Amino acid sequence: MARILITSAIPYINGIKHLGTLVGSQLPSDVYARYCRARGHEVMHICATDEHGTPAELAAAKAGMPVAEFCAMMWQKQADLAQGFALGFDHFGRSSSQRNHRLTQHFAGRLADAGLIAEVDEKMVYSPADGRFLPDRYVEGTCPNCGYEGARGDQCENCTKQLDPTELIDPRSAVSGATDLEVRETKHLHLRQSALADQLETWIDRQTDWPILTTSIAKKWLKDGDGLRDRGITRDLDWGIPVKRGDQDWPGMEGKVFYVWFDAPIEYIAATAEWADAHGRPDADWERWWRTDKGAKDVRYVQFMGKDNVPFHALSFPATIIGSGEPWKLVDYIKSFNFLNYQGGQFSTSKGRGVFQDQALEILPADYWRWWLMANAPETSDSEFTWAAFQAGVNKDLADVLGNFISRVTKFCRSKFGETVPKGGSYGTAEAEVIAELTARTATYQAHMDAIELRKAAAELRAIWVAGNEYLQAAAPWAVFKTDPDAAAATVRFALNLIRLYAALSAPFIPGAAASIAGALDIDVPDWPDDINAALSALIPGHGFTTPEVLFAKITDDQREAWEEQFAGQ
Ligand code: 2FM
Ligand code: ZN
Repeated sequence: MARILITSAIPYINGIKHLGTLVGSQLPSDVYARYCRARGHEVMHICATDEHGTPAELAAAKAGMPVAEFCAMMWQKQADLAQGFALGFDHFGRSSSQRNHRLTQHFAGRLADAGLIAEVDEKMVYSPADGRFLPDRYVEGTCPNCGYEGARGDQCENCTKQLDPTELIDPRSAVSGATDLEVRETKHLHLRQSALADQLETWIDRQTDWPILTTSIAKKWLKDGDGLRDRGITRDLDWGIPVKRGDQDWPGMEGKVFYVWFDAPIEYIAATAEWADAHGRPDADWERWWRTDKGAKDVRYVQFMGKDNVPFHALSFPATIIGSGEPWKLVDYIKSFNFLNYQGGQFSTSKGRGVFQDQALEILPADYWRWWLMANAPETSDSEFTWAAFQAGVNKDLADVLGNFISRVTKFCRSKFGETVPKGGSYGTAEAEVIAELTARTATYQAHMDAIELRKAAAELRAIWVAGNEYLQAAAPWAVFKTDPDAAAATVRFALNLIRLYAALSAPFIPGAAASIAGALDIDVPDWPDDINAALSALIPGHGFTTPEVLFAKITDDQREAWEEQFAGQ
């Protein structure tokens, strides 16, 4: 048994996320966490909301709410959605928590003590009309690169160029529209990542088992020198973690807060502390996950995220951890994902294009989404959600293969033997062959899950379901029953045991269905099978069950067409 710490990239608070956000972080981390738990490992699975930064402030202003209230409301919404998708976090924290305030200030203090923070005079856009500096998205204007007139201070949405607010042509305040903007000097803190370059490079070079996607991004940033440039870690905003040096005030930094990307990853640690607080546990209980001097030496730490988040996790957060000089746990494995596109284009929050998490759950149960998204996860390249592919995948895998198998077996048993496991004769060659095949396939499935190759794992799980169908088709108990009811009974007994096995093996991907299947069999979701042979005799003759109603209804063409239209966006 190992101890595995799993964190999912923490979603921004500013709105309800689309399926693209789910597919690259929260969902795979949940599938992996469920699998690790099923294999008997001790798991700590952490997520939270990312509550600071200009998007949060602007979204609150748009909603006409004080930002703290807006964040509390949106946290609840996101927590409910996480529950709706059966994301089993040990704790779903908030980066605005007091724990994160204290830890972020603590790290800043340690970095300053180590000489890794520089105070730099910066030229910033100031709006006399608003009486404030305008960081990032608070300034809008014309992109100096492509001429797009709605470019934001941090990035041009049209040509994707990263910008500095002072670069915009004809800048205006996003708060008031004021155009009489000035450039003024003000002091900001920079993390001297360049001073840590050698240590970070050596550390990255040691990560030979990371996915290619992760290392290629990390190395590109290292090579371009962009990743390890000193970077500003403070902002002129009201909402955020006040800049302090540990618990001391920081002269010259009054009224400033830490940059959202500085405090967000620290929230992984803080959320684990929030977990301890929420359960009335002592600090030692969260520290044993995070402090190598307090038990975390034997922890394996795995992070999940979309590819755009890799530089922050492979370079910036490790810079914070290493620079602190304290024995905090560094990540062992960064699992990153490409993007999920939508119907030949991109998901777009502003255009309402694509399926958002709340809408997804309104139209279909979580398992439909969980299954399709993971079976088609953008692991090796970007992948694309189309309604046609979704309909075909769900109808085939869940309805025709898994659902149909369960339905045929239980209904046939009910009609011929009643709703109890029939006795019949012993298993023969056909059963031995299935046992051999499933022993091999389960080993392969486990190997893919251990390697966090979720698409391959889903394909193997599908093959495990198919094996049951093929067995049933060949054994044909409905025909055999007429001449040899005992043999037919043995087939049904074996098939009912296959259903039980499927509940265990499928649970990481489709926990809701696994629970329903187990419920129909009048058992809990079984433990992970160590021995397929033994597992396929676990349900003994006389054990009662209930024939389940339709487990997975098929998606009809009418539904597909209606949804295509409904989610097309403007
Ligand atoms: O890309 C995002 O949605 C970010 N909010 C992820 C932050 S992950 C981490 F740093 F906490
Ligand atoms: Zn542009």
